[in-house]
This record gives sequence, C-alpha cells and structure tokens, in this order.
Amino acid sequence: MPDYTLMAEQMRSLAESEPLWLPVLANASALLNEALPDLNWVGFYLRDPGDGSLVLGPFQGKTACIRIAEGRGVCGTAAAKDEIQLVPDVHKFPGHIACDSASNSEIVLPVHSAGGNGETGRPGIAAVLDIDSPLYNRFSEEDRDGLAKIVRVIEECADFSTWYAL
Ligand code: SME
Repeated sequence: MPDYTLMAEQMRSLAESEPLWLPVLANASALLNEALPDLNWVGFYLRDPGDGSLVLGPFQGKTACIRIAEGRGVCGTAAAKDEIQLVPDVHKFPGHIACDSASNSEIVLPVHSAGGNGETGRPGIAAVLDIDSPLYNRFSEEDRDGLAKIVRVIEECADFSTWYAL
C-alpha cells in the first residue's frame, strides 16, 4: 500500500509554496502518477460554473475528452452527487465514458473550493480527481481513504478564484 500520509505531506508542501490551482493540480497529477502503480490516467476535470459541465484540467496519461456534460459518466456522477465513485469494473457503470480503452477500473473524488464556487460564495465543487487503471478492482477502501486525504490537502490549500474568473 502506498504511504498516503507521506504523499499528503508532500502535497501540502507543494501546494503551500504556490496555492494557484493550476500548479497545485499539475503537481498533484504528477505525484499520484509517480507514487501509484498500475494507472493509465490520473488528473483533474474542473467544473464550469456556467453550465455544470466538467472541463479537462492538468493530467498525466493519453489525450482525453475535453468536456463532460453535467451528470455524465463516472466524473459527472461524482460531481452531481458530491460523492466519491469507486468503480471496480467501468464496463458495468451505466454511461461510463471511455476516453482510454485501456481503463477497466476507476475512482473519482470531488474536490471542493474552500473559497466558494464563484457564484454564491458557498463552498462548492471546483473539480474532480479522476484516476483510471487497466486492472479490474484496482482501488480499495484504503486507496479511497488515502486519496481523500490528498484531496483534503488540495481543498485546504488550492486557490480556485482565478478559475472562476475565467
Ligand atoms: N471515464 C471517465 C471520463 C474521463 S476519462 O476516463 C479520462 C468518466 O466516465 O467520467
């Protein structure tokens, strides 16, 4: 099992040195890609506050779908329900979007903006973290809890205000 506590500390020192969302999410993708075995895609989709769709953000892996309509696929479901989606077999997930045909299992975690969602000022979903694996059943409950720690650090540190200003 990867040392998620150490990874969360590494994430904090990266994010604290420069809280702008773009380098935080870029380095988070690189950190996760380096530390976690058996992944074929790891990265972020940012939530467009205009129509609730998800727009491709920093990632590591093959080129991917650029925009996901609100509520679509595993990512859209995680954002719409504001719930982590742990999917042992993506082929059994209704509406799964196959960006990379190598993907067989997936986990998606919502990322909230502590500074508000740009419209209401209330904390809202700023992004989702999407991680795909060529293995079935790749992600365990321990992975889910460990990844949630890293997402919490991102939520505490990242400044999404310039995303909302776009
Ligand atoms: N599989 C995702 C789409 C994003 S890509 O895998 C990078 C989904 O169903 O939401």
